[in-house]
Amino acid sequence: MKNEDWLRSAVVYQIYPRSFADGNGDGVGDLAGIRARLPYLAELGVDAVWISPWYASPMADGGYDVADYRDIDPLFGSLAEAERLIAEAHALGLRIIIDLVPNHCSDQHPWFAEAVAAGPGSPQRARFHFRPGRGTAGELPPNDWQSHFGGPAWTRVADGEWYLHLFASEQPDFDWDHPDVRAEFEDVLRFWLDRGVDGFRIDVADHLAKAPGLPEVRDYRARDANDSPWTDQDPVHEVYRSWRALADSYEGERVFVGEIWLEDRDRFRAYLRPDELHTAFNFPFLSTAWDAEALRTVIDRTFADHGPIGAVPTWVLSNHDVIRHVTRYGRADTRHSWDPVTEGVPVDLALGRRRARAAALLTLALPGCAYVYQGEELGLAEVEDIAAELIQDPRWPRSGFTDRGRDGCRVPLPWSGDGAPYGFSPEGATNTPWLPQPPDWAGFSAAAQQGDPASTLELYRAALGLRRTEPDLVAGEFAWLPAPDGVLAFTRGAGFTCLVNLAAEAVELPPRSSLLLASGPLTGSGLLPGGTAVWMRTA
Ligand code: GLC
Repeated sequence: MKNEDWLRSAVVYQIYPRSFADGNGDGVGDLAGIRARLPYLAELGVDAVWISPWYASPMADGGYDVADYRDIDPLFGSLAEAERLIAEAHALGLRIIIDLVPNHCSDQHPWFAEAVAAGPGSPQRARFHFRPGRGTAGELPPNDWQSHFGGPAWTRVADGEWYLHLFASEQPDFDWDHPDVRAEFEDVLRFWLDRGVDGFRIDVADHLAKAPGLPEVRDYRARDANDSPWTDQDPVHEVYRSWRALADSYEGERVFVGEIWLEDRDRFRAYLRPDELHTAFNFPFLSTAWDAEALRTVIDRTFADHGPIGAVPTWVLSNHDVIRHVTRYGRADTRHSWDPVTEGVPVDLALGRRRARAAALLTLALPGCAYVYQGEELGLAEVEDIAAELIQDPRWPRSGFTDRGRDGCRVPLPWSGDGAPYGFSPEGATNTPWLPQPPDWAGFSAAAQQGDPASTLELYRAALGLRRTEPDLVAGEFAWLPAPDGVLAFTRGAGFTCLVNLAAEAVELPPRSSLLLASGPLTGSGLLPGGTAVWMRTA
């Protein structure tokens, strides 16, 4: 077994390539844009970058529908450019984690096209889940499974058979019992490991194996918990054991992070056994309300889950699938929810932003690996008013136009300037950004915030800098301190204290300590106001 020390305290920045930076002026982010901004990321102080899918794709689900796992989509650039990007990132001291999508491919993937052409009963169809329909003429889907994006999880092809897709109909699920599928993905892993990537984020990592016979769902409400025939089936662990052995055979520490939304902690932990994945996203933490007790509980639970098996805890507040936490924390109900995203939920963005800044200091002070989703460091809120006809997320049509989906957290980033495209695209760009940017984003651009000590960007820079220079923040033992109701207080090692005030009233700072960083101004008499966090040096 190798050690994965770099991940143990790493900060990983997530890039959603379509929305990060547009180098060629077509209104869509690309590898040229990422390459140009690598110095920004290095200067921000992150250790690694996770890039959402960059592969050849018809973009039915923003690239999570992969047509060729060994090539880059022309919209984003070329394979040669990806190789340059990896080398340039490494030269700046940044590791690269790429997104691997093994549960399904695109309906434009050659294997699926061959399967459709080859017809029922063919070996080509056996790589996917093709079945005859139910009903007198096979007109009903083979079972009652529903797509995560809404509607049945089955689509019928011209010869009458149906194929399974847990997401959009353009994303057919592979049959992971098939040896070709396993061999293919091991080869894909090698392809990218040979090109120097430092790790993989595994898309819907608990979905690959399906229960034998694809049984009906007993309790639909439990489908995403622990009881669904497409989630967390035991054979998936064999896949990860073989991947881990493969990654360990490479030089350096190549790591895996799983997207695993499992509620059951024993089942979750099983993925983090020493011969499986290194880490998985901490979605219980992301989903928790802005509430001291609830956060304390989920933090304790995280340590209890990871500590005994030596796994690295992760801390994550946002990603490309959920409502940006500035907006979440500005609502009456601050929890993440998968309920359809509707318009008109009242939100206090000033409050949300204050809390989000405090949450950043909380998250970045906890021991483990922290994730930053692009734009979080700029304090961006969810864009909630994208015109219906411009929405691109497949959830919108598949939900019968009831769920506006995830575009609101995917709006192209503001880099500079007073109006759209805010430096996202270069001067003289031929197209406007693929999703419209709000008219009031000038103050949120990276350039506008640069050098302003009160800005969220400078708060992140300062926090990430201290994570590197304060040894206790990297390796110091975590311990809770006694604190008033509504306040979280903990130490790292002997020399570092973090205090987060989630209550309304201001509280005193710890004695004999000096201020390292605050998420907002203290009161005139030096107290810590509500919705504010501080980092203190205590020795
Ligand atoms: C994961 C991705 C999400 C995608 C889905 C299907 O949940 O994070 O963006 O739509 O998988 O690939």
